Amino acid sequence: MSYPTSVRLFEVGARDGLQNEKEVIPTEIKIELIERLVEAGVKAIETGSFVSPKWVPQMADTADVMAKVTRYDDVIFSVLTPNMKGYEGAVSSKADEIEIFSGASEIFSQKNINCSIDESLERFKPVVEAAKKDGLPVRASVSCAFGSPFGEEITPAMVADVSKKLFDMGAYEVSIADTIGVGTPIRTKLVLDAVANVIPLDVIGVHFHDTYGQALANLHAALEVGITRLDSSVAGLGGCPYAPGATGNVATEDIVYMLDGMGIESGIDLNKLVKTAWFISDFLGRPPVSSVAKALKNKLD
Ligand code: HMG
Ligand code: MG
Repeated sequence: MSYPTSVRLFEVGARDGLQNEKEVIPTEIKIELIERLVEAGVKAIETGSFVSPKWVPQMADTADVMAKVTRYDDVIFSVLTPNMKGYEGAVSSKADEIEIFSGASEIFSQKNINCSIDESLERFKPVVEAAKKDGLPVRASVSCAFGSPFGEEITPAMVADVSKKLFDMGAYEVSIADTIGVGTPIRTKLVLDAVANVIPLDVIGVHFHDTYGQALANLHAALEVGITRLDSSVAGLGGCPYAPGATGNVATEDIVYMLDGMGIESGIDLNKLVKTAWFISDFLGRPPVSSVAKALKNKLD
């Protein structure tokens, strides 16, 4: 079995991780989280969302976060943009990259962004056109690729169809998301094979929520397929307010520990990352979900 020699980790803790928290997280804490992640070696960070503050109140301060956080030449700060209004927020906050997000579930699309999958793709067209003109890279995400929280059947062909449309539109990366963490390794390979049949393997990413404890196994299966773009969330934070049952993402610490053990380069300092996981977890008043963060807590330098 051959594995990639290096991967790109895309850290979603400051966005996916915090969007579902009940208590308001102060802007300063978000900024410190992001800056600590950079210090740990993370090069691509989802810093927030320019979505309706009525829909996702936790992301209402994204412009403020972007205005105050230290910027780095070699670190990408990415933001979610559901429409042109979101795009304008991204541009005025000098985001390095935008993210459009659709899905394979019709019901989830309605509940999450108040339109059908086809309508969402139409909405993204002017966003991507504007981004191309402005020279902003566009990343795309496909939710509910392994199952829907609303019980609809999701086939690999449905996931491949949306992925191809997003890629053809101009996304440089298409992240295949297990929003409710129901996938298993063989299923992961089937879905990724179907997507890789229609878009290049090296643009495909994976985004695993860990609701059923399968995320690391699925991630390993994705590495076996040759995927090198991995989303993860420090301390295993995460969830989507519009996907009942969506718990946290696979923890960045757990992935980095596994990658280190496999000799796969991620560029991340595990020691600093675990300290960051404890920083945000202490703030939230509960331990990280991550086994690695717990195991290393008393062994940190
Ligand atoms: P809508 O109500 O259909 O939008 O919502 P609208 O165009 O009719 O506008 C209604 C109001 O929202 C207006 O304000 C607009 O100005 C405002 P009002 O006149 O009522 O005061 N508005 C906005 N405000 C700020 N930024 C904007 C914006 N757009 C409109 N961009 C909309 C449609 C898409 C806006 C809404 O449904 C929404 O914001 N949804 C976001 C949901 C969300 O962020 N979900 C979580 C992220 S996705 C996720 O977590 C999955 C992922 O992790 C992968 C996975 O795990 O599956 C990526
Ligand atoms: Mg997610």
